[in-house]
This record gives sequence, C-alpha cells and structure tokens, in this order.
Amino acid sequence: MKRLVFLASALAINALPATADMPPQAALCVSCHQATGLGMANLAPSIAGMPATYLAAQLALFKSGERNNAIMRPMAMALDEAGIKATSEWFASLPLELPADPAFRGEKQPQDMTELGERLAYLGDWQRDLPSCVACHGPEGVGVGETFPPLAGQHADYIESQLKAWQDGSRSDDSNGLMGHVAKKLTAEEMTAVANYFASVEAK
Ligand code: HEC
Ligand code: HEC
Repeated sequence: MKRLVFLASALAINALPATADMPPQAALCVSCHQATGLGMANLAPSIAGMPATYLAAQLALFKSGERNNAIMRPMAMALDEAGIKATSEWFASLPLELPADPAFRGEKQPQDMTELGERLAYLGDWQRDLPSCVACHGPEGVGVGETFPPLAGQHADYIESQLKAWQDGSRSDDSNGLMGHVAKKLTAEEMTAVANYFASVEAK
C-alpha cells in the first residue's frame, strides 16, 4: 500500500508541465513584470522568453549601477547569484509569441516604405552612418542569439526610454557601445516612431 502511494505521488510530479515552477525569488518581480513575464506598458518591460544570459547580464548591470535605474537597482540588489540565475532562467522559460516566419522587410521595396519608424527599422540612414535596427535585432526585431534582444512586441514606452537612456548615458552597458552609437544619432521624433513600429509588430 505504501509503495502504491509513493508511486502515485511520483507520477503526479512527473505529470507537471514542462515550464518550471516560479522560483520564490520571482514573487516580487511578477507584481510588475506579471506572471506571464510580458510586463505592462508604463510599468515594466516584457522579459518573457528572452535569453537567460541576457537577463542575468542586465540584472548584474543594475546591481553594479552601470545600468542606472532607480526602480530596478534595489530589485537586483535583493538577488544573490543564485537568485539572478533562478529568476533569469524562469522568465526565459515563459513563452514569447513572435512572428513565426519573419520577413526581412515585409514584401516591400525600400521606396514603398514611407513611414519613418519602418524606414529606420529596415533601412537605417546610411547618410548618417546609422545602420538599420533589423541588421542586429533580426528580421522584424525578433532578436538574434543571446546578444541582440527581441524588440518585436515590446512596449513602445520602454523602447523609447532605453533609446533615451543610451543617449543621456544612464545606460552605457553594452560593451562595444553598439546601442550608444545608434541612439546618439536619433532625434526624439525618430525614437518615438521606431518604438511604435516595433511595439506594433504582431505575432502571426
Ligand atoms: C516596481 C516594478 C518592478 C519590479 C517589482 C521588478 N521590475 Fe524589473 N523592471 C522594471 C522596470 C521599470 C524596468 C525597466 C528599467 C529601465 O528603464 O532600465 C525593468 C527592467 C528589468 C530587466 C531588464 C529587461 C531588459 O529587457 O533589458 C530585467 C532583467 C528585470 N527587470 C528583471 C526583474 C526581476 C528578476 C525582478 C524581481 C527580482 C524585477 N525585475 C522586479 C520594473 C520592475
Ligand atoms: C550594431 C548592432 C545594433 C543595431 C544596429 C541596433 N541595436 Fe539595439 N541593441 C544592440 C545590442 C547589442 C543590444 C543589447 C545591449 C545590452 O546588452 O545591454 C541592444 C538593445 C536594444 C534595446 C534594449 C532592449 C531591452 O530589452 O532592454 C533597444 C530598445 C534597442 N536595442 C533598440 C534598437 C533600435 C530601435 C535600433 C534601430 C534604430 C537598434 N536597436 C539598432 C545592438 C544593436
């Protein structure tokens, strides 16, 4: 009888879904980033499905102050190394819906792209030595590997705030200065336009 009970509980454990349970350290995080990890406009960015190494690197940067943010600094300070690992891995395991078959620049020819945000996203501006965003962030901004985070579907206010942060130097973290170089060339109008462009990319 005892063996049967043991067997039954072992089976119940195996039947749990593949996504990991929320680690206790993430209890605080979900009040802003939500239990889906998708965040909320004007509150917290979406961090679901981002590479765990990217998330862990950002938490370390908040902790050291190299990425200077008054809200996230105390959050990161509350995490030890194991907490950074556990929360990063858990948020990385949450699903992020991205375009399944992203087109490099939709079906459009450059001359058909009239909207400012779309032009910056796909064409950049070579006269100003400004590369296109998709050159690094992947077609439609779906993200590339562990270095280039996804922009597709991210909240517009967050994208814009990060471009401003690189422009004013409060985010100066990426080692090769890739984003600083880009952001310092953008006007306020361009930041708003390109942020709205990526925020409106929909999963298909
Ligand atoms: C009070 C709301 C709030 C709470 C609670 C919170 N965050 Fe954040 N988080 C934010 C905001 C706002 C930002 C954007 C900061 C910025 O502008 O640099 C952010 C950014 C981040 C980023 C960087 C995302 C990126 O794309 O670069 C990570 C990673 C992160 N949070 C993880 C966590 C973890 C892990 C916890 C729990 C320990 C947590 N957050 C708790 C509001 C919150
Ligand atoms: C030369 C490569 C490169 C180009 C071009 C580029 N980016 Fe980035 N971007 C990066 C890298 C690398 C990061 C990650 C920085 C880090 O690790 O902190 C990043 C991060 C970001 C983030 C922060 C995402 C997050 O979750 O915190 C935003 C927003 C962003 N880029 C927007 C843009 C926009 C908009 C453009 C086009 C105007 C652009 N990028 C062009 C390399 C690039």
